[in-house]
Amino acid sequence: MLDTLARPLRDARISVTDRCNFRCVYCMPKEVFGRDFAFAPREELLTFEEITRVARILTDLGVEKVRLTGGEPLLRRDLERLVAQLAAIEGLRDIALTTNGSLLTRLKSRLLADAGLRRVTISLDSLDDETFRRMNDVDSPVERVLDAIEGAADAGLGPIKLDMVVMRGLNATSVVDVARRFRNMAHIVRFIEYMDVGNTNGWHLQDVVPGREIVELIAREWPVEPVEANYFGEVASRYRYVDGAGEFGVITSVTKPFCQSCTRVRLSATGEVYTCLFAGKGRDLRSLLRNGTPDSEIRAVLANIWQKRDDRYSEIRSEATAALKKVEMSHIGG
Ligand code: GTP
Ligand code: 5AD
Ligand code: SF4
Ligand code: SF4
Repeated sequence: MLDTLARPLRDARISVTDRCNFRCVYCMPKEVFGRDFAFAPREELLTFEEITRVARILTDLGVEKVRLTGGEPLLRRDLERLVAQLAAIEGLRDIALTTNGSLLTRLKSRLLADAGLRRVTISLDSLDDETFRRMNDVDSPVERVLDAIEGAADAGLGPIKLDMVVMRGLNATSVVDVARRFRNMAHIVRFIEYMDVGNTNGWHLQDVVPGREIVELIAREWPVEPVEANYFGEVASRYRYVDGAGEFGVITSVTKPFCQSCTRVRLSATGEVYTCLFAGKGRDLRSLLRNGTPDSEIRAVLANIWQKRDDRYSEIRSEATAALKKVEMSHIGG
């Protein structure tokens, strides 16, 4: 099944909650996501059974990989129950989780792995504790995330991808430190250009550190060379250290968009379907899931959404599009 730009549907990114225990400055700034912020009420969140049902239909339509996101997905109690349900879907090759790591204890990693989780991606914006706390803005220490990385690797959830959103003037000075720390380890650091997702993070182009510049910073320490993508539509551009110390990636949504190979559909925690990270609105599925609509009809709705899809936001980004009303990343999933 292809969309209007001939892109196949391959991945589903499923948000299980719009809440988060962090307030990362690039995602959920405190001034907006304060004490009285109205998160989705519990009854509006899809149940694990509803999520699994949608995932099963999507798999039938071509999805091979599901990534659970949030907000912070580990705020959803017993997430391993959902993982186990997803793992039972025939044809689904890969189940991954994106987390900030702060709640990922050794026990949780083990439970998730036992339930069928394959991989985990952990956000890590700096190794410097002060910078890390400034980025998450809730005073969460970096040590806990480093423990989580180790625990997840021990549970067999590696090689672990470590995502670092790079912001000029904030954590750009941590790039080389982070690269150094994970050289010679199986983990793969990916440096992400700060994006204009949502409308609340006060994004300015001058805060973006271009991927090219990040690669140059690293190459100044250790020679690097580009590596072919692992699969069609891989978001990160890969580089390897010439000395054999492993690889890292850069995700250049701003300076070198990858919409042409975007195979991702997104399901929000409250059951809306989005076909772009930068969409303004989604298509409500929850009401269909709750009014007795049969699978065949939900399948037809999803197929229709994909076949009509023409999104390529990052390719047409401008000052004007940056100001458009867009859904927040914590709602739609990272
Ligand atoms: P792998 O399956 O390990 O290749 O995962 P991935 O790289 O597809 O997923 P991950 O969640 O690790 O994505 C990393 C980051 O890339 C996200 O947090 C986003 O910042 C960014 N990203 C992912 N998908 C998209 C997308 O479709 N569009 C844009 N603009 N950015 C994306
Ligand atoms: N720019 C780039 N990536 C972002 N993320 C959240 N907000 C942004 C943004 N403004 C991504 C990061 C984070 C994940 C949960 O979502 O990769 O690690
Ligand atoms: Fe939470 Fe992730 Fe957003 Fe940070 S980037 S506020 S950890 S959802
Ligand atoms: Fe896909 Fe939209 Fe990201 Fe382009 S901007 S890669 S279409 S999610």
